[in-house]
Amino acid sequence: MALLEIRDLVVHYGKALALEGVSMTVEPGELVAVLGPNGAGKSTLLKAISRVVPISSGDITFAGNSLNPLPAHKVVAAGICHCPEGRRLFPELTVLKNLQLGAYLRDDKDGISADLQRVYELFPVLSERSRQQASTLSGGEQQMVAIGRALMGRPKLLLLDEPSVGIAHRLKVQIFESIRAIQQAGTAILLVEQDALSALGIAGRVYLLEHGHVAREGSSDALSRDDYIRQVYLGV
Ligand SMILES: Nc1ncnc2c1ncn2[C@@H]1O[C@H](COP(=O)(O)OP(=O)(O)OP(=O)(O)O)[C@@H](O)[C@H]1O
Ligand SMILES: [Mg+2]
Repeated sequence: MALLEIRDLVVHYGKALALEGVSMTVEPGELVAVLGPNGAGKSTLLKAISRVVPISSGDITFAGNSLNPLPAHKVVAAGICHCPEGRRLFPELTVLKNLQLGAYLRDDKDGISADLQRVYELFPVLSERSRQQASTLSGGEQQMVAIGRALMGRPKLLLLDEPSVGIAHRLKVQIFESIRAIQQAGTAILLVEQDALSALGIAGRVYLLEHGHVAREGSSDALSRDDYIRQVYLGV
C-alpha cells in the first residue's frame, strides 16, 4: 500500500482551476519530486495535502486513511509535516525556539531532545546559532531551520516546497545532501522543486506538473532521457 495516494484531485481558488485531476503516489521511504514552472499548481498540491486549501473533488489517503475530512492540525498529528514556500519562521524567536515549535504536538521530552540533536547533526551551523534570532541567519541557514522544524514533528512524510530557491550554490548542495540523508534515515519526502537538474539528481521518481495537471511521470532515469523534459526543463 502506498503511504500517500492522491486520486483525481481538483482544487479551485474561487472559480479559477488550480489542480485539475492530479493523481500520484508516494511509497514509504520514497523521495518523489514534483517539477514544474511557476503557477503550475505545485504549492497548491502540498497545501491540499496539508488541508490548508479546500479540495473540490478527489481523494487523498495517507497510510490507508482519508485526509479529506481532517483539519490541518490533524494532518500533522497523522505524520505529515509541511515545510512551506518562503520558510515562514518566527523571525524574532531564537533558532532553538523555532525548532522546538516544530514539536508542538509532542510531549515525549526524551524523543524531542534526541530529534533536536539529530537536526544539529544534520545542520551543525544551527547548533552554533541556536541562541540567535532566526532573522539574523542567512537565507540558506533559515531554510535549514525550516527543514529542521519540520523534522521536529518526526514526520512519516515530509512535504518540502522549493527548499533551494534563492540560496547560494554552496548551501544549496548542502541542503540537497541533507534531504537525501533525511530520506536515507527512513522518512518519505515529497519535494517540490523548480530546479529540474537537482530534482532529477536526488529523487527516485518525478512528476511534472503543468497547468494543474500531470504532464509526465516516471523514474528520474527515464525522465532524464525524455526529449521534452530535456528541451524544456534541462535546456540540453
Ligand atoms: N490564494 C490564492 N488565490 C487565488 N489564486 C491562487 C492562490 N494561490 C495560488 N493561486 C493560483 O493558483 C495557481 C497555482 O499556484 P501555485 O502557487 O500552486 O503554483 P506553483 O506551481 O507553486 O508556482 P511557483 O513555482 O511560482 O511557486 C496560480 O495560477 C496561482 O496564481
Ligand atoms: Mg509554489
